[in-house]
Amino acid sequence: MKVALASDHGGIRLREEIRVLLEELQIEYEDFGCDCEDSVDYPDFAFPVAERVASGEFDRGILICGTGIGMSISANKVKGIRCALVHDVFSAKATRQHNNSNILAMGERVIGPGLAREIATAWLISDYEGGRHERRVGKIGEYEGNRTY
Ligand code: RB5
Repeated sequence: MKVALASDHGGIRLREEIRVLLEELQIEYEDFGCDCEDSVDYPDFAFPVAERVASGEFDRGILICGTGIGMSISANKVKGIRCALVHDVFSAKATRQHNNSNILAMGERVIGPGLAREIATAWLISDYEGGRHERRVGKIGEYEGNRTY
C-alpha cells in the first residue's frame, strides 16, 4: 500500500506522528508537506494528495489540519475521493468497511497523538466489506458522474 500524506501548518506536529507510524508499520508513503510553520492554505495540500489518490498513483491518503474539516471538504471535491473526517477508532474501522474511504482526515487541535495513531492504524488495516455497501458507494460514484435526483 502507498500512502500520500500532507498537512497544513495546523497539523504539522500530528503529521510527524503519523509519518513515524507509517515508518513503524513499514507502509510506503510520500510526504507532500507543508514544510514550515508559516500559515498556509489547506486546499493547496489537500488537492495534490486527493488527485494522486484519485488517479491511482497512491492507494490512500492521510490529511491533517487544525480540525480536519478544511482538508476533508477540499479532498471530497475531487472526483473519486471518499475522504472521512475521523476522531474515534470505531468510525475509523467502519468508514473503511462500509464507505471504502480512500482518504483519512484528522484534526491536530481536536485529538491527541495517541488516539490519532490508533485511528490511523485501524483505518490503514481495515478492509472494505463490499456486499450491501457496494450499491451505496456505487451511488456516490454515479452522482459524481452527473446523475441527478
Ligand atoms: C488553520 O488555522 C485552520 O483553519 C486549518 O488548519 C483547519 O482547521 C481548517 O479547517
